[in-house]
Amino acid sequence: MDKAKLQLQGKEYELPVLVGTENEVGIDVAALRGASGAITYDPAYGNTGSCSSAITFIDGEQGILRYRGYPIEEVAEHASFPEVCYLLIYGELPTPAQLARFEDQLTRHTLLHEDMKKLFDGFPATAHPMAVLSAMVASLSAYYPQRGGEDELDLNIIRLLAKTPTLAAFSHKKSVGQAFVYPRNDLSYTQNFLHMMFAVAAEPYRPSEVLDRALTMLLILHADHEQNCSTSTVRMVGSSQANLFASCSAGVSALWGPLHGGANQEVLEMLQHIRADGGDYKKYMAMAKDKSSGFKLMGFGHRVYKNFDPRAKILKKAADAVLAEMGVADPLLDIAKNLEEIALSDPFFIERKLYPNVDFYSGIIYRAMGIPTDMFTVLFALGRMPGWIAQWKEMRDDPKTRISRPRQIYVGHTQRPFVPLSLRSEAKAPVLVPA
Ligand code: CMC
Repeated sequence: MDKAKLQLQGKEYELPVLVGTENEVGIDVAALRGASGAITYDPAYGNTGSCSSAITFIDGEQGILRYRGYPIEEVAEHASFPEVCYLLIYGELPTPAQLARFEDQLTRHTLLHEDMKKLFDGFPATAHPMAVLSAMVASLSAYYPQRGGEDELDLNIIRLLAKTPTLAAFSHKKSVGQAFVYPRNDLSYTQNFLHMMFAVAAEPYRPSEVLDRALTMLLILHADHEQNCSTSTVRMVGSSQANLFASCSAGVSALWGPLHGGANQEVLEMLQHIRADGGDYKKYMAMAKDKSSGFKLMGFGHRVYKNFDPRAKILKKAADAVLAEMGVADPLLDIAKNLEEIALSDPFFIERKLYPNVDFYSGIIYRAMGIPTDMFTVLFALGRMPGWIAQWKEMRDDPKTRISRPRQIYVGHTQRPFVPLSLRSEAKAPVLVPA
């Protein structure tokens, strides 16, 4: 099977068929419009392959996720976060010497240009930290411009990975009115983030091992997820040859939405709301099934996973272990488990193949770690940064890359003559903008 046939308006077209290394099949329609004048129509891109990629493989039917061929379960169990960054961006697991050098580089680029602190001063303390992070990642282009040259690009990749924890932690400090805590070169990537988040000048702080391990696991599970909304955004912005920082800042903005990374904050707020309302989770399950209620069970459902989300499976187990290790008993965890139990046996959820996704249990772990709710999506962004960078780099290095420019099916007015202002009737004018 190497050609697909399309019959359209009495003519037949042959379209090449691509097969990936995991036997996924795609019909190549790149030449279709030139040959036939027709385009493909696929709003929300549910059936569209926008690129070929060797970074992450997902089989949504079987609940498989692999980074560069390595199963997520094994990566999450054995790797450090910098190791995963290296794997995603450069394609192979680092040797001990390569990892030592990479970690050293990440450690040496954590500081921000001092002038950037003035940018933080300009934000209100109530600013959502995702707004601050997105602006700050874009503003890195002003301090570290990419004038070309591969060495400079490699350095900017390191800078972006190394400075994102600093930006994230500073945005938190700003929101709670505490002095910024500078990074320390004797700490690992994850320890450093915890230090910058939680240390205060008044007393020494040493991140606990439990927190460090939990953070490492969370970051690894979020590190890449092939062509999701924010990653596709990064690739699309980058396809215009916008620089790395500007492209990844767009990724932060796309991630913020409640249907994507913003869901982790929404899940926790939903669980808190259910608890405050007496803990009657069955009432909320009924609402989730009633389309007219406008209520969705946040943390449930996924465009790609139709069996289970392997990240959610790992996180559910980890939530029990991390909370037990920290001596935290969180009633929200019980509510979450009850919701899941009902959903897994309810025909509404079974028929629609709705399962808990990565955001369902992550918030409970973040909360136990002492991370404020509005920082949850920032943590997702911190984890996803190497994925965005890897995908941006792969796009840039691919000689087939062209500027992303979808087409449309136009459904507006056909041509009509312009009506001068003086001839437009108030009486006949439709009300388009509320007074
Ligand atoms: N609660 C109740 N019903 C749902 C839910 C939900 N969470 N998710 C989907 N449905 C229903 C939906 O109403 C539709 O029903 P019907 O066929 O009767 O119209 C059906 O299931 C299919 O849903 P869809 O919205 O067409 O699916 P999608 O692929 O367009 O959207 C989704 C996927 C993740 C945006 C959606 O499931 C959702 O909004 N979930 C809640 C938000 C969430 O948890 N997002 C995090 C996603 S995972 C992290 C990440 O990678 O970003």
